[in-house]
Amino acid sequence: MTAKKKKNDFILIAHRGASYDAPENTFEAFDLALDLGFDNFETDVQLTSDGRAVLVHDNTLDRTTDGSGVVTETSIAKIKSLNAGLWFEGPEDSFGVHGPMAYPEAFVPTLDDFLERYYGKAHVHIELKSAQPDLAATSMKSLQKCGWLDQHTGDSIAPGLTISSFRFEQLERSIALMPDIAHGWLLQKIDKASLKAAVDLGLSGIYPNAGKVTEKQIKNANEVGLVVRTWGIADSKAALRRAYRSGAVGTTVDWPAKAREVISTL
Ligand code: G3P
Ligand code: CA
Repeated sequence: MTAKKKKNDFILIAHRGASYDAPENTFEAFDLALDLGFDNFETDVQLTSDGRAVLVHDNTLDRTTDGSGVVTETSIAKIKSLNAGLWFEGPEDSFGVHGPMAYPEAFVPTLDDFLERYYGKAHVHIELKSAQPDLAATSMKSLQKCGWLDQHTGDSIAPGLTISSFRFEQLERSIALMPDIAHGWLLQKIDKASLKAAVDLGLSGIYPNAGKVTEKQIKNANEVGLVVRTWGIADSKAALRRAYRSGAVGTTVDWPAKAREVISTL
């Protein structure tokens, strides 16, 4: 009989920081995650037109800044001049009304600034977001320069580092450059072919959508030595419960503090 998992063992990774309560992928959202007691957070990396790694999720700047245009076609100088907090209206209150703007000073962090700020303080889950061929190599240079490649503290243990991507070719590039770092493949659903591909590449994890994960898939992944954590919780408590009960080691979630409360009732 397997030992019952302790509720505290389920790793809640603040998705783009504590992004339900602060503008995603800003220092404000990552600092808030730490303040709330979550030292695992996830972020998205892309390169600017002049080759600097910045933390932006979308293909364009339109939703999360006061600028517009494709991230990879915009210079670092332009991106640094943008405000990344004015768009954020905060969560709705019980009347369905958004709160006042609380983050007028937020900006888009570079990967370098992010790595310097959280060195020794967090386990960061870096998602290689864009398809740019230089993304993994540029990220590696930042990680090396900031000392992150010397921290090997195990899966989701802070401080530490995990690299993920939906793009298999980015994982191939990244693991060739940083073979000692944990790498995980983001996908919709685990199946036989994806397990084989993940093992053949030497990944340590496989990360399915929380809404589609099953105990059986996790068992199959664990049997071939892969760690499973999920993503895609959005605002669904049902998806969180499913992820928790499935046997996954953890999940990304925008609202980690609320998620901790939900899990404590299970
Ligand atoms: O944890 C992975 C998750 O961040 C993937 O989805 O679209 O939010 O980057 P997305
Ligand atoms: Ca992401």
